[in-house]
Amino acid sequence: MAESRHRSWAEPYKIKMVEPLKVTTREYREQAIKEAGYNTFLLRSEDVYIDLLTDSGTNAMSDYQWAGLMLGDEAYAGSKNFYHLESAVKKYYGYPYLVPTHQGRGAEHILSKILIKPGDFIPGNMYFTTTRLHQELAGGTFVDVIIDEAHDPTSLNPFKGNVDLGKLEDLIKKVGASKIPYISVAATVNMAGGQPISMENVRQLREITKKHGIKIVLDATRALENAFFIQRREPGYASKTLPEILREMCAYSDATTVSAKKDLLVNIGGFLATFDRDLFEEFRNLVVVYEGLHTYGGLAGRDMEAMARGLEEAVQEDHMRARIGQVEYVGEKMITAGIPIVVPVGGHAVFLDAKRFFPNIPQIEFTAQTLAAEIYIDSGVRAMERGIVSAGRDPKTGDHYHPKLELVRLTFPRRVYTQAHCDVMVESVQSVFENRGSVRGLKLVYEPKYLRFFQARFERV
Ligand code: F0G
Repeated sequence: MAESRHRSWAEPYKIKMVEPLKVTTREYREQAIKEAGYNTFLLRSEDVYIDLLTDSGTNAMSDYQWAGLMLGDEAYAGSKNFYHLESAVKKYYGYPYLVPTHQGRGAEHILSKILIKPGDFIPGNMYFTTTRLHQELAGGTFVDVIIDEAHDPTSLNPFKGNVDLGKLEDLIKKVGASKIPYISVAATVNMAGGQPISMENVRQLREITKKHGIKIVLDATRALENAFFIQRREPGYASKTLPEILREMCAYSDATTVSAKKDLLVNIGGFLATFDRDLFEEFRNLVVVYEGLHTYGGLAGRDMEAMARGLEEAVQEDHMRARIGQVEYVGEKMITAGIPIVVPVGGHAVFLDAKRFFPNIPQIEFTAQTLAAEIYIDSGVRAMERGIVSAGRDPKTGDHYHPKLELVRLTFPRRVYTQAHCDVMVESVQSVFENRGSVRGLKLVYEPKYLRFFQARFERV
């Protein structure tokens, strides 16, 4: 709909069922976050007013998807929902071979075990928490090869997710191509602020990796959102459809790992998919060890049906325009209010720049963790830390990683919140910003071994 581009991003759906929210007092929330060790992951969801912890599995499904749940074929083997999903993945992503998994990290686990040997290096356009951990558990070392601008929250580069080809070539020279089984390419890049990678960059990556016999594994978890940015920003793509752009991007890769809990508008699910018959044989053999038979991979038949139907809806232009439009709406309001955020605004979230928000709280006092707690106390809006806590420790030295980006992510569940909710988010962040001088940082009092951000506990310094 060409003319609709001049109109508001208004939602292409209406609300048929509602879920009441509990409204709490400031005193209640102060107690709740203290009991949760100042970690928003440890709050009870019923104590949250607007939940922006993640866009993962928090989507509202459509009546068409809910109807599909009733058509679950719960056979152990060969469920018809698997074949429906397989044909939808082939149609929209292009991969002929599909292996479902219970969620994204299930796919990462299997892929890492198959492709990585101890001592290997895996370059990537910035790390993602679970992706890097599975690479490390398989004996690999992650190497960040994203462009420098990705680490600068103020850089307006339209494709901050791009790989720095020079950094990749340096790594190949240094360790040798035989020690690099694949490059891990995320579209969009979550930890950089939901920033897209350009088609041009992926095309160049394919040329370089082909020369060296290195595979490309795409993390296509939010690749449809990435396709939308390519359509809007990259020369030559304005008249292409989202599935056309998606298929072109996937065609440059060898395989993909996907968390379906994002783009695919469901509450659970993931998959591995590939063009490579031999790799597929390995995927479908190992999946039976960790997830389930290769035609269900840890999912119920009905979940696969909801994924197939969600994919059909997710590729609709009107859907994506409203999805990204809502995130942009909040981002623009934050900028107007003078709040420091990562620009350009990303696909799935608005990221607050905690270092500029609280210049008086050093990173070692967990600046972003503190900010997420303060926002919750102010309004019951739940956000997530994406800074030093999420970055974890170097497995070799045991020291904290000190990421340049110390961010709080306000992540948007798809099709869940209204524009008035959006206004509350901005008002709340604004009120914390106005009172920022009086806030104290945090100290770590409990730290689990893996993915510490999920369960770590803090106290006020
Ligand atoms: N890759 C990316 C880019 C992700 O954002 C995630 C999850 C995963 C892989 C892992 O998928 O959760 O289904 O096992 N991201 C969530 C988030 C958790 O909040 O950003 P999963």
